[in-house]
Amino acid sequence: MTASPQPVEPFDLVIFGGTGDLAVRKLLPALYHRYADGQIPDTSRVIGIAREMLDDDGYRAHARKALLENGGDKSKVDDFLKLLHYRSLDARKDEGWDAFAALMSEQPGHVRVFYLSTSPDLFVDICNRLGEHGLNQGKARVVLEKPIGRDLASANQINDDVGRVFDESQTYRIDHYLGKETVQNLLALRFGNVLFEPLWNAEHIDHVQITVAETLGVGQRVAYYDHAGALRDMVQNHILQLLCMVAMEPPSSLSPDAVRDEKLKVLRSLKPIDESNAAQLTVRGQYRAGAAEGQSVAGYLDELKDHKSHTESFVALKAEIANWRWAGVPFYLRTGKRLPERVSEIVVVFKPVPHSIFDASAGPLAQNRLVLRLQPDENIKLWVTIKHPGPGGLRLRHVSLDMSFAEAFGVQQPDAYERLILDVVRGNPTLFMRRDEVEAAWRWADPILAAWAESGEAPRPYTAGTWGPSAAVALIERDGRTWNEDSD
Ligand code: BG6
Repeated sequence: MTASPQPVEPFDLVIFGGTGDLAVRKLLPALYHRYADGQIPDTSRVIGIAREMLDDDGYRAHARKALLENGGDKSKVDDFLKLLHYRSLDARKDEGWDAFAALMSEQPGHVRVFYLSTSPDLFVDICNRLGEHGLNQGKARVVLEKPIGRDLASANQINDDVGRVFDESQTYRIDHYLGKETVQNLLALRFGNVLFEPLWNAEHIDHVQITVAETLGVGQRVAYYDHAGALRDMVQNHILQLLCMVAMEPPSSLSPDAVRDEKLKVLRSLKPIDESNAAQLTVRGQYRAGAAEGQSVAGYLDELKDHKSHTESFVALKAEIANWRWAGVPFYLRTGKRLPERVSEIVVVFKPVPHSIFDASAGPLAQNRLVLRLQPDENIKLWVTIKHPGPGGLRLRHVSLDMSFAEAFGVQQPDAYERLILDVVRGNPTLFMRRDEVEAAWRWADPILAAWAESGEAPRPYTAGTWGPSAAVALIERDGRTWNEDSD
């Protein structure tokens, strides 16, 4: 029997950017699901803040539509909507802030979560306003959405400025990849079993691949994206966090600092990639017109309506971790927009058997692989070699020991935001990035960005609906390896 999820204490969650895409598509549905599951007390409040002139009813109507389209149950949605409020505020104007502070003071005992789902250039203005009204006191927490800056210097500036209002212990830098079920499962698999840890090192692991592929293009987000690019948008945060979860030493406990100390050591051990080796170790791409899910789609530059941008919509690179456990084990990382399928996975490829006792007639001996699929259809597969059943000589087959979560547990997987928002309410920052982690990740990413800028070269074109530039295939094939292709 699985226990029902425990309710959290009553809270006020304030979403700055409350009418934005993230709030409507992810945050409100996440809160609704936890409410429907009985985890959110009825006295809690969710307060949307944006510049649009709306009232509580207008906001509820907006949310209702999105939640029902998302498969919400009508009567539960209507109950949930009673928690919702709305205030129109501009972080750069005085108007409305006193009334907002008065609204907050109606529930002085509540945990207060300020979720900044806005452009990062508003983070500091909003935090200053909150500080001026004393809203940073007591059980107050601030959640910062990525990107935290666009390089080390700008990240430091944001962290310094936010840090003048909120302590590090009140600051939750969210990376929603850490809330994904498979990432939690990686912890359970590595540290809840004895089978893997003895093999989890350079002696037995040949290489690791991390792929986050998306079929979508940049679409409406092109203005933001063109200032970011795939390295800043995906690699510096999500993919490096996944790499850390694979590569970190066993923490002494699951306490926030024990886990984050170990991740930090991995980030600090990444071998530098700079102008001396970026051309060999990295590949940048930008999609051209092509097809996605059977439809013809425009190229990146057409979406941008500017034909000069060098922003990459695809990156593949070979990273290495300079420590005893991982010396010489490549971590091939790749991510891109407008790729042929939406798939995120971590593939741990073990070394070949040292000596084969089988005849050539038995067929080739494939390497063991552990494939952790984050999406879609979260699951873990361990590929092993067995004998083909029945007579006819000893023939070898490579099969997967399969752990499909939805089938095994008959439950719908919660969205990453469901877990992470409640972790903020509970005051558990284990799955959030500490300031020094963000800094270490930028310290590694900055020289790559500098090397690309210095080279002046445009990213390599790839047709939408393909796996990126052919140089990304060459990056791994040069080493006698291939990208994982088992999609079943
Ligand atoms: C966001 C990026 O952080 O993650 C987006 O800014 C990307 O560009 C998204 O599409 C991917 O998230 P998920 O959960 O859909 O894989």
